[in-house]
Amino acid sequence: MSSNVNIKLNKNIILAVTGGIAAYKSAVLVRRLKDYGFNVRVVMTKGAQAFITPLTFQALSSNPVHTTLLDPEAEAGMGHIELARWADLILVAPASCDVIAKFAQGLADDLLTTLYLATKAPVWIAPAMNQQMWAAKATQRNLKTLTEDGMHIIIPDAGEQACGDIGRGRMPEPEALAEQVFEYFKTQERAYTQQFGLLAGKKVTITAGPTREAIDPVRYISNHSTGKMGFALASVCYAAGADVTLIAGPVTLNTPYGVTRKNIVSAQQMLDESMYMLNQGCDIFIATAAVADYRVAEIAPHKIKKTGDTLDIALIKNPDIVATIAQQEKRPFMVGFAAETQNIEQYANGKLISKKLDMIACNDVSRTDIGFGADENAMTVFFAKKYDFDQRQLEKASKLKIGEQLVEAIVDALNTKS
Ligand code: PMT
Repeated sequence: MSSNVNIKLNKNIILAVTGGIAAYKSAVLVRRLKDYGFNVRVVMTKGAQAFITPLTFQALSSNPVHTTLLDPEAEAGMGHIELARWADLILVAPASCDVIAKFAQGLADDLLTTLYLATKAPVWIAPAMNQQMWAAKATQRNLKTLTEDGMHIIIPDAGEQACGDIGRGRMPEPEALAEQVFEYFKTQERAYTQQFGLLAGKKVTITAGPTREAIDPVRYISNHSTGKMGFALASVCYAAGADVTLIAGPVTLNTPYGVTRKNIVSAQQMLDESMYMLNQGCDIFIATAAVADYRVAEIAPHKIKKTGDTLDIALIKNPDIVATIAQQEKRPFMVGFAAETQNIEQYANGKLISKKLDMIACNDVSRTDIGFGADENAMTVFFAKKYDFDQRQLEKASKLKIGEQLVEAIVDALNTKS
């Protein structure tokens, strides 16, 4: 399952509240919209103020609430035209029968109806009313007009109503409304980055996290990788327009939004999935995983018993995933990582050459503030000789920021005619 939690969209939403009992849900809606990182300003009609006070919305949105068209003081703050331009989307929730009729008629006798005519932003309405009023011919005729005018109508839910009736007319829950708004902007942004992003049209495969090599049914060999670096890179590559697959060892992180995830346990499984992705078509392969170099020669079928003071376990070498992919005829652009504790330049360059990589990003894993498990990293990036690039120093920053700089380095190398 993808997580939206870490995605913040810097978009401006006007939430317009009209008169109806569902106005109480709009208070929660402000919170949910803000959870997604939206900037929210609230516009209230006179009818809405009979159900809930502007003060509630002011506190929740952290912005002044707009209630009138003809108040010189309010207009001096952010006038209706400015407000209409500020909005990336106007969401009217709840939208009463009355405001729907006014919109359909093109009336402009208060702030909200004026805003509707003055804005270029998409306008969505979430009608909420008694089921008979929803079904009324005039309401349906007005909604048809508004749909033809390009307005997005969110169909109300059916169920028990505040007035005791049962039928369609309930405003959808705030969580569902906020998610629809979020998905709308994400889809829009995706369409843009898929065309204009730094990695538009590229297929990227990323390995991340540790591998586990079983000793017996209860024990294994592994390492301290948490997957944070690889997951951050996956998120950055997706935001840059790439089609991203993350081959993840056992970690506890949520899948970054938009990224396809394949879970594996052992190095052999990571190699199998990597080869599969290569055959599916892969333009860039990034190996952030800390792969166990050795595995147990023979996994014990039962728990090994404590019989002596020492225990010898024979290990055999695991396949080198990144080197195997780099050897293939149709090889992608290959990015390796190097976890070192000393002689960073010498060891990283050695791996760059021996594994036939295009680029290698090296971090000092003897430090506790970066590398394994940390939220930040610092890296030195080396390029294969054919690119004729100097090494790059990426100063300590969040793994997301480091990921962005790595993507820039990849794009620079891809754009060089080598
Ligand atoms: O996951 P985090 O907690 O966020 O920590 C991030 C990290 C420290 C794991 C990451 O930044 C990192 O350094 N990853 C590489 C770890 C590593 O195994 O480095 P290495 O120097 O042993 O391997 C060199 C390269 O070969 C790596 O790209 C590795 O993925 C690859 N390799 C290694 C062995 C193997 N059998 N197959 C491989 O593909």
